[in-house]
Amino acid sequence: MPDQPHAAHPQLFTWEFAADPYPAYAWLREHSPVHRTTLPSGVEAWLVTRYADARQALADSRLSKNPAHHSEQAHRTGRVGIPGERQADLMTHLLNIDPPDHTRLRRLVSKAFTPRRVAEFEPRVQQLTDRLIDSFAERGEADLIHEFAFPLPIYAICDLLGVPAEDQDDLRDWAGMMIRHTGGKRGGVGRAVKQIRGYLADLIHRKRADLGDDLISGLIRAGDHGEHLTENEAAAMAFILLFAGFETTINLVGNGLFALLRNPVQRTLLQDSLARGESGLLETGIEELLRYDGPVELATWRFATRPLTIGGVDIPMGDPVLVVLAAADRDPARFSDENTLDLARADNPHLGFGHGIHYCIGAPLARLEGQRAIGTLLTRLPDLQLAADPAELRWRGGLIMRGLRELPVSFTPR
Ligand code: HEM
Repeated sequence: MPDQPHAAHPQLFTWEFAADPYPAYAWLREHSPVHRTTLPSGVEAWLVTRYADARQALADSRLSKNPAHHSEQAHRTGRVGIPGERQADLMTHLLNIDPPDHTRLRRLVSKAFTPRRVAEFEPRVQQLTDRLIDSFAERGEADLIHEFAFPLPIYAICDLLGVPAEDQDDLRDWAGMMIRHTGGKRGGVGRAVKQIRGYLADLIHRKRADLGDDLISGLIRAGDHGEHLTENEAAAMAFILLFAGFETTINLVGNGLFALLRNPVQRTLLQDSLARGESGLLETGIEELLRYDGPVELATWRFATRPLTIGGVDIPMGDPVLVVLAAADRDPARFSDENTLDLARADNPHLGFGHGIHYCIGAPLARLEGQRAIGTLLTRLPDLQLAADPAELRWRGGLIMRGLRELPVSFTPR
C-alpha cells in the first residue's frame, strides 16, 4: 500500500485519474477519510470519502453553499463553483444559496418535477430516444456519447424550459462547448456561458409577452404574482437547470452503458427481463448504475460557516468541503460487494443524487431519461458491443462530474 494516494495516482482529479479513481478513493476511505488536499486549481479543500460522513456533511446546515463563506474568496477568480458561472448574474442559483432564499427558489421549480409532470414527459423522451437511435441504427456502428447520450438530455431540457424547436440546435452547440472544455481550459466555457446567458435573457423577455405552459413561463408568472423572483434569479434558475440536467444525464447514459457492456452477465439479465416486458430490473438497475459509476463524482462546493468536526477531523471556519459521492457509494461499511455491479441490488440508498435540502430536484426526470435511453437501446440493438479497447477510452475529467468523452460501439445494422 502506498503511503499517499498520490503515490498510486500522481495527481488526484487529472484526466488520467478520471479513468479509474476508485482505488485511490478506497485508500482515502481507509487511511484518510477526511483528507485535506490541494486541487489542480490551487485551492485547498477537504475531501470526505466515507458514506456515513458524506451523508452527514450533505445535510449539515453549518456547511454553506454560498461561496462568500470561503476564506480565500476564490470564487472571485472562478476557482470554485461551477465552470463559467462567474458572471455575477448567474450566481444566484440553487447550488450557491442557503435558506431562506434556497427554500423560496426551490419551491418555485419543484412543481415542474412532480412525478405527474415528469410522467407527462415520458412520450416525448421516448420519441427523442427512438429518433436518435433511428439516426445511426442502419450504420452498424456509432459513438454513443456524441450521437445518443449527448443530444438526448439537451433536447429534453429545452422542451422543459420552453426553448422553441428552431433554437434548440444552438443550445445544443453551446452546451457542447461547455462540456468539451470541462477539465481545464475555461476560456471556451466562458464564451459558451455568455452565449447561453444572452439567449436566456432574450428568451425570458420574449416569453413575458407570450406566456406558455413551460417552466420559464411558470417562473415569470411566479415572479409576477409577488413571489419575489428577480429577472437574474429566473435566468440563473434556467441556467442551473440546463447545467445540472445536461452533463449529468450524459454521464448516466454513457457510464451506465459502459458498465453494462463490461459486465455481460448483468447485461444479459437485464436484456432478458426487458424481453419479458418487465421494468423492475431496469428500475433497480438505473439506481445501481448511479451507485456503481455515477455521473457526479463530487457534490458541489460547501464552506464551513464555523469550526466543525467531520469524522473526528476538525475543519476550520471558511474551509471548502467536497463530499466525494463516488467514494461514499463504494464504501464497504454501507454496501456489500461494493465493487460489484448488481442490477438487482435491493438495499441501495446511494448518494448519486445527493442528500438533504440540495437533493437533486431533477431526479425523476433523470431516472426517466436513463430508463428510456438504456432500456430502448438494449432492446432495439441487442447485440451492441464495445468497438474499442476500454483502456484506451478517454474520460472527461474536471472536478465535479466524471464521464466518457466517447463510447464507440458496433452492432448488427437494423
Ligand atoms: C442537484 C445529481 C439530473 C437539476 C443535484 C445534486 C446531485 C445531482 C448529486 C446535489 C449536488 C450537491 O448537493 O452539491 C444528478 C444526477 C443526474 C441529475 C446524477 C442525472 C443522472 C438532473 C436533471 C435536472 C437536475 C435532469 C433538471 C433538469 C438539479 C438541480 C439541483 C440538482 C436544479 C440543485 C438542487 C438544489 O440545490 O436544491 N443533482 N442530477 N439534475 N440537480 Fe441534479
